Amino acid sequence: MAAQNNAPLPDGLEIGGYRIVKKIASGGFSIVYLAYDADGNAVAIKEYLPSALALRAPGELAPVIPKANLPVFRIGLKCFFEEGRALARIVHPNVVRVLNFFRANDTVYMVMAYESGHSLQEYAARLVAKGSRAGEPFIRQVFNGVCAGLRDVHANKLLHLDLKPANIYLRTDGSPMLLDFGAARQTIHTDAPTLAPMYTPGFAAPELYVKGSALGPWTDIYSIGAAMFACMAGAPPQPADQRRAADTMDQQCAKLEGAYTPGLVAMVKACLALDPLARPQSVFAVQKVLQAGLPATPAALAHETGEAVPASGWRGLVERIGFGRGRA
Ligand SMILES: Nc1ncnc2c1ncn2[C@@H]1O[C@H](COP(=O)(O)OP(=O)(O)OP(=O)(O)O)[C@@H](O)[C@H]1O
Ligand SMILES: [Mg+2]
Repeated sequence: MAAQNNAPLPDGLEIGGYRIVKKIASGGFSIVYLAYDADGNAVAIKEYLPSALALRAPGELAPVIPKANLPVFRIGLKCFFEEGRALARIVHPNVVRVLNFFRANDTVYMVMAYESGHSLQEYAARLVAKGSRAGEPFIRQVFNGVCAGLRDVHANKLLHLDLKPANIYLRTDGSPMLLDFGAARQTIHTDAPTLAPMYTPGFAAPELYVKGSALGPWTDIYSIGAAMFACMAGAPPQPADQRRAADTMDQQCAKLEGAYTPGLVAMVKACLALDPLARPQSVFAVQKVLQAGLPATPAALAHETGEAVPASGWRGLVERIGFGRGRA
């Protein structure tokens, strides 16, 4: 992912009726802040700020956008807004709740309910540090929730297109929530091929590599398989474009068989099929397989850490899965 070089808004700033507390994260396309509304409720505010197009110096509020970048900046801004507006219709416990939008500083801000927790990627990193890995009940529990949220997203005629452990957020009660919908950057990608691509190698379906391919729920289903695989294997799957040349995924999946039930491994493998038609044809089908192996008291398993495995397989996860994003 592209890095964010821009200065964040200053702590304490009043903007759009909210008070910024601090930056909590930043990526190549945006900066996320913790803030409070007028009633003292915590919110997360996401600022549209693609660092390849716009530059903000410390002490400034509005970014400088070179004239040549303006058309693409504006298309991306419109998509960020449209995507958020579509997301705002979705009220589901497993999808981030969008509360509001406002314009300021020549850009757009998306206001979300703040949830305390951490991303699945951070959780996996902690397991790495302990020489442990996610157990099957945890995988089934978390991805069952992910599928529930994704079904609602698809029912609203939206696709996520950037599903990966970094975009799955675990609340402190262990329930998962989908973050960071990728439509804005897809448009940026379409219009400015020199910009960082929107897809994340390893998690992106093969059809995302081919301009003009039909995208659909099957595209997100590939990424669900990839995210489950990353949690189970300790590294993302082989990138789809490389698989076309020399596919090693059969061997990689076979290595999971000792630690996970054949049903789960087979389902992950099916989600990761290069041919969209060979994948499970709906998120519901994936969810049914996950639920079939859920224990009777799933809530109790929300934070189990799974069985310990030799550290070697997990040590490299931090680097390989891309934990190095900028965080305040
Ligand atoms: N509603 C929220 N509540 C709490 N924390 C949030 C919320 N939304 C985002 N965050 C924090 O910000 C991080 C990044 O969020 P998100 O994935 O939406 O943006 P991003 O990856 O920076 O986006 P981009 O790739 O577009 O720049 C999350 O991992 C999480 O730590
Ligand atoms: Mg993200």
